[in-house]
Amino acid sequence: MEDHNIDPREAPASPVIDPGASSGPPGEDHELVERLSSKVVGQREATRFIVPYLQMHQAGLAPPGRPVGVFLLLGPTGTGKTRTVEALAEILHGSEKNILKIDCGEFQSDHEVAKLIGAPPGYVGHRETRPLLSTQRLAEVTTPQCSLALVLFDEIEKAAPALSTLLLGILDKARLRLGDGTEVDFEQSLIFLTSNLGAREMMRELSPRVGFSAGVAPSDDVADRLESIGLAAVRRRFSPEFVNRLDVVITYRPLDEAALSAIVDQQVVELTRHVTTRLGPRSFEIDVTPDARRFLLERGTSTEYGARELRRTFHRHLVQPLAARVASGGIAPRSRVRVALSADGTALSIESTTATAPGAPEETHVLVVDDNVELLAWFEATLTRAGFVVFTSSSVAGATEVAAREHLDAALLDYVLPDGDGVALGVELVRERPGLSVIMMSGTHLPDEETATCERYDFPLLTKPFLAEDVVRLIEGRMLHNQAVADRTTSRD
Ligand SMILES: Nc1ncnc2c1ncn2[C@@H]1O[C@H](COP(=O)(O)OP(=O)(O)OP(=O)(O)O)[C@@H](O)[C@H]1O
Ligand SMILES: [Mg+2]
Repeated sequence: MEDHNIDPREAPASPVIDPGASSGPPGEDHELVERLSSKVVGQREATRFIVPYLQMHQAGLAPPGRPVGVFLLLGPTGTGKTRTVEALAEILHGSEKNILKIDCGEFQSDHEVAKLIGAPPGYVGHRETRPLLSTQRLAEVTTPQCSLALVLFDEIEKAAPALSTLLLGILDKARLRLGDGTEVDFEQSLIFLTSNLGAREMMRELSPRVGFSAGVAPSDDVADRLESIGLAAVRRRFSPEFVNRLDVVITYRPLDEAALSAIVDQQVVELTRHVTTRLGPRSFEIDVTPDARRFLLERGTSTEYGARELRRTFHRHLVQPLAARVASGGIAPRSRVRVALSADGTALSIESTTATAPGAPEETHVLVVDDNVELLAWFEATLTRAGFVVFTSSSVAGATEVAAREHLDAALLDYVLPDGDGVALGVELVRERPGLSVIMMSGTHLPDEETATCERYDFPLLTKPFLAEDVVRLIEGRMLHNQAVADRTTSRD
């Protein structure tokens, strides 16, 4: 992978970090690579090229007069190119939607490209056209916690040549002049270009005749060949000026079986989370047997479509039949749904077992810790009305006292507390009471380190403001989850 880093700024004074030169990301860097790799599986080599540019921005060392980083992502379809940008948006801004995305397929004529910058004054309709690339649209995808805008030009090979010309200015000077004469500044942005250039040739390289079958990790040799194919295709299609303005060209590898299998597991977790948040008290646990996972993996493995096929298979064989069952009332609230391989091995069977403690939920003891006394009173009233036994405290010290005295099932902890922070308190509480469900609350985005701790300990984050029903649903969902885990442990014993 080392030689696919094109660093055009070879001037010695350039502060651009050459990611290919580092043997491995140190310190915090490592944490970010980990988080990105947990969301985009099997592409660690690719994702670790992006992180140094983020750090330059965070350290305030990004060179002025150009975007913070410009990346061209190449490689076969369904290998995680677009997903990488979405995952970064989740990490930096809290949502995969915080991306200024331009689908280049929609700009196949010069006339359409003009829409990106808006019509000049004097043209009919110039007031009605809102340029797609504007200062306002860039601002819309940033958040108070991160000023870096992620801009994605998806499938650039499909755009008219006028778009490459327009891009040249952005990549070179971080400036774009709009139809009305105003300028947009891209200095605080990371620009991603994705392309399937060379993909067909890459597929030929990967065809079984050459010894590659879907789901098998390509050898380093093959990976190197894919890279050269991608680069050659880029050089054929784009001018040297354009290629020279890219910071890094990254070629994504076809996903191997371990990566595809991790994606199936990710999809199961996502589905469970979705069911819990959407259905609240009507939600249920989903248990997917190893055989069923293997079935999904085998059906969904495709050299041609990468993980896209896996996603389709998951929907067709699991999500759709499950949704049909829910819609027809075939799944009781709080039951456990077991997804297994059918007897003849050609489909998945979905069985719903009896509800846990039907109609008679045990009393749930909840501790709420927040220094806002009015909010505490609201919590006490709301949660008591919902049937919980509630304890409150406005400090870490008070919370520790309650926890020493009372049995607790769940704890809702505000992040900022007068004598400490909620995340550290949560870790301390669960260390002593392993079954306790901790939920974090915060009015702002948590710092990276705290977010990582929450992920590690599985503390969900409730961002203020929220509705009473959000809180109730979340606690009920957590209780259900714990119950199912406990049942499973008992049945295994
Ligand atoms: N490496 C990966 N890790 C996790 N999920 C992945 C990965 N690759 C693909 N997926 C899953 O497959 C879907 C499609 O992937 P993605 O949109 O990133 O493909 P792509 O590489 O951009 O392909 P294309 O060239 O067709 O645009 C994603 O939404 C995600 O669910
Ligand atoms: Mg894509």
